[in-house]
Amino acid sequence: MRGALAPEYPQMKTVSVCFVCLGNICRSPTAEGVMRHLVDEMKLSDRILIDSAGTGDWHIGEAPNERAQQAARQRGYDLAALRGRQITLADFERFDLLIAMDERNVAALHQLCPPAQRDKIRLLLEFVPQTDSRWAGAREVVDPYFGGAEGFEQVLDQCEAACRGLIAALRPQLLP
Ligand code: 4NP
Repeated sequence: MRGALAPEYPQMKTVSVCFVCLGNICRSPTAEGVMRHLVDEMKLSDRILIDSAGTGDWHIGEAPNERAQQAARQRGYDLAALRGRQITLADFERFDLLIAMDERNVAALHQLCPPAQRDKIRLLLEFVPQTDSRWAGAREVVDPYFGGAEGFEQVLDQCEAACRGLIAALRPQLLP
């Protein structure tokens, strides 16, 4: 997405990302909250546009899962205002990147996506810097919904690492 944000900066570029999981109540809102926080901290919130969605429809309109909110809150991320929504065809037009939490959601996105937009679909853990060996070889952010508290901590660890890598990867696209 490219936009002129103010007349004095006609060339200012923006990039838009949508994080995608199954329910849009645990992993993708966590990624959205972490990304918003980091992007705000780096004063990039008018350049990197952020959203999240689920491939499933069970939790449309719901706030993020209470355990996801609590784990996030303890690290300084506020997810309370987010609401579940389901991905739509229009999202493939609106966003530059659709970043899925796991292969199941990549497959669901591929099914819905117009062929010309398929390159926009990526996995979140692709953006973890190679120097970070904590989840070496892992491709998926595991669904914490049916597990214990440690799952939500791992989701946060992975979102923090991957979102930092994602911002570094996006920076060249923001240059005039
Ligand atoms: P999420 O987790 O995809 O990370 O939001 C889930 C939330 C709810 C369900 C599955 C996964 N569910 O089956 O309702």
